[in-house]
Amino acid sequence: MTNATAPGKIILFGEHAVVYDRPAIAVPVFQVHAEATVQARDDGKVVIDAIDLKRTYALSEAREGDPIATIIRLTCARLSVEPENFSVRIHSTLPIGGGLGSGAAVSVAIARALGKFLSELDADKRGQTRKNDFNPRSSAVLRVQLSSQDISDLAYEVEKLHHGTPSGIDNTVIAFEQPVYFTKGNPIESFRVAQPFTIAIADTGIAAPTKIAVGDVRRAWEANRATYESLFDEIAEITRKARKAIENGEVNRLGALMRNNQILLRQIGVSSSDIERLVLAATTAGARGAKLSGGGRGGNVIALVDGVTQDRVQRALLKAGAKRVIVTTIS
Ligand code: PMV
Repeated sequence: MTNATAPGKIILFGEHAVVYDRPAIAVPVFQVHAEATVQARDDGKVVIDAIDLKRTYALSEAREGDPIATIIRLTCARLSVEPENFSVRIHSTLPIGGGLGSGAAVSVAIARALGKFLSELDADKRGQTRKNDFNPRSSAVLRVQLSSQDISDLAYEVEKLHHGTPSGIDNTVIAFEQPVYFTKGNPIESFRVAQPFTIAIADTGIAAPTKIAVGDVRRAWEANRATYESLFDEIAEITRKARKAIENGEVNRLGALMRNNQILLRQIGVSSSDIERLVLAATTAGARGAKLSGGGRGGNVIALVDGVTQDRVQRALLKAGAKRVIVTTIS
């Protein structure tokens, strides 16, 4: 039996603009995770047990575009193995459509667990072969371990099914499990967090498919390119300043940058009354800044808190209707 997990993530700055080649900053959130367990079978089948969806089904029966079946097939193809003789159980504590990267976390956990399972199987086979006159030249079973980049690339293929035109930020931050400064198509840039800071993550309880928000922004951009390009440029400027502030330990500058990013997200049309209510509750209770995180229209709101304001902001968010609040420290 082989087990692997993958964390959630939040986007601190730059969502939506990142789809249009501007930078964004994202960090992993370890308080929530997806977990995949792979177990050997001997009946030839591949069986998927999606615990949260309360569904057990054979890979051969999966519907077209099923994300779990897709990541299993892609991972096996990447390792040149026929998918057979194993079951995959998947469980996640990430809300679906909540802006915490649930789809990417599920894909990364499965690719990791399956990659490990197949290479362990591989090692066993090699051991047996060795006992019976191992011939390295005929060894078709020598396989590579998947790197974080491989796993990110596999998960990106599945993200395309969910989102249409994903930037790739979710699979990157979740596969690498570190804060990233991300620009589409570029190698990932990690950066130094000079002084830890604390973020409260409040769930509006509204599942909002990222694909719809991203599609609406695309239509608005097509209808009014000049306006949207300049809104994305403004967001990019905020993201660059935020990176500098984080690297220089100027955490007190992040609040205003979050507030300004939220104004721009509202202008591009991805905020909602529930998001605005939580943003207002957080800032009124003393958060230095707050904004939506991810696709918007629902999902999560993030707020910059400190040791003094944390409890008060958390209570205010719950009172304003947040379904749950996670507090995480970025370091
Ligand atoms: O809703 P999430 O957590 O999947 O984040 C989406 C972020 C966007 O920038 C809106 C889309 C993307 O592909 O980057």
